[in-house]
Amino acid sequence: MTATVLVAGGNGYIGSHVVVELAAAGFYPVVIDNLANSNPEATRRVTGIAGRDVPLLVGDVRDGAFLDEVFRAYPIDVVIHLAGLKAVGESVAKPLLYYDVNVGGAVGLFQAMDRHGAKRMVFSSSATVYGDPVTVPITEDFATGATNPYGRTKLMIEEVLSDLVASDPAWQAISLRYFNPVGAHDSALIGEDPNDIPNNLFPFIAQVAVGRREKLSVFGNDYATPDGTGVRDYIHVVDLARAHVRATQALLQGTIAGGAHMPINLGTGNGVSVLEAVHAWRRATNRPIPYEVVARRPGDVAACYANSELAEKLLDWRADFDLDAMCRDHWRWQSRNPQGYGEPG
Ligand code: NAD
Ligand code: UFG
Repeated sequence: MTATVLVAGGNGYIGSHVVVELAAAGFYPVVIDNLANSNPEATRRVTGIAGRDVPLLVGDVRDGAFLDEVFRAYPIDVVIHLAGLKAVGESVAKPLLYYDVNVGGAVGLFQAMDRHGAKRMVFSSSATVYGDPVTVPITEDFATGATNPYGRTKLMIEEVLSDLVASDPAWQAISLRYFNPVGAHDSALIGEDPNDIPNNLFPFIAQVAVGRREKLSVFGNDYATPDGTGVRDYIHVVDLARAHVRATQALLQGTIAGGAHMPINLGTGNGVSVLEAVHAWRRATNRPIPYEVVARRPGDVAACYANSELAEKLLDWRADFDLDAMCRDHWRWQSRNPQGYGEPG
């Protein structure tokens, strides 16, 4: 199926992998990104992997005139919206920035889509919309309730989409609720490149393994989990990216009906503890990965993992890669690119 897919935030960690998989499936991806949290080298490398030119148009999703130019220049069939800010702590310190970029940016993008009659949306949501779940695994009908401004932006955008599709059945929308994306493309050419000290477990361990940091701080070992450390559903970014291809195909084929906004979990369904992740990293790297148990991190939940049956049913998608593959591929990227993409150039 040949269609043009606008990938907003497509120069970032997840977006760059989405673009590779779209191109491999025969789509024409067009990237827009303001480079707030990414390096243009990512799309240059994606072009190399894809074997054909992928346009990177530098601009902001809050800029309506820029978006109008993009929609006039390309026959956009589907939009995948990954652009936004994602640091929970920063969202607590700078809520207005997060509501502006994430909510304002999403509304601006939906308005541009509406103006140009491009009404198929795949939105990057997050398991954070479930807050502290009453039990696990989590299905899509669980109560939502975010615990920080970042999470609230995701919930608000989902609600905007629900209202939008209800107002006009020509709209079709899927919100993909990601659990914990990790890993990298097996070429080791693209991967996650955090700017500062990483907040998340995998990029932090990767920097310990490569010698950039001395040891991992394990945030609490007194949770009600089998070994006391936090349990999450890590998912390989290539699996995640392929789910975006399936979602794009589902929208184009009309298997997700207009007039309905469909939230879909993307996880493996396996809960992995922090200590299990450390052991998997030791296997993948043959390095010691020193760690120290410290206090819990405020706001963390004990366990969060998905029931992903809806993705299997609606998108015919399942995660293929296991934890060892996630560590192996994350490590290959980190060890071959110890400074990430380097300085933007
Ligand atoms: P990322 O920061 O690597 O990618 C986001 C991209 O959006 C960046 O390239 C950034 O430059 C761009 N961007 C930011 N603001 C923009 C704006 N106003 N206009 C245009 N471009 C803008 O992050 P990621 O990990 O690839 O995440 C992608 C999406 O997935 C985000 O919406 C994030 O909230 C969501 N998500 C991520 C995770 C995760 O753990 N990585 C989990 C759940 C959901
Ligand atoms: N952890 C550590 N040490 C670290 C980093 C993390 O012990 O240095 C632990 C955490 O306490 C947690 C687990 O490793 O138990 C995973 O932590 P991450 O920060 O990698 O992931 P979270 O599940 O906490 O956060 C992710 C996204 C958020 C999103 C949240 C809820 O990064 O953006 O999921 O969906 F809000």
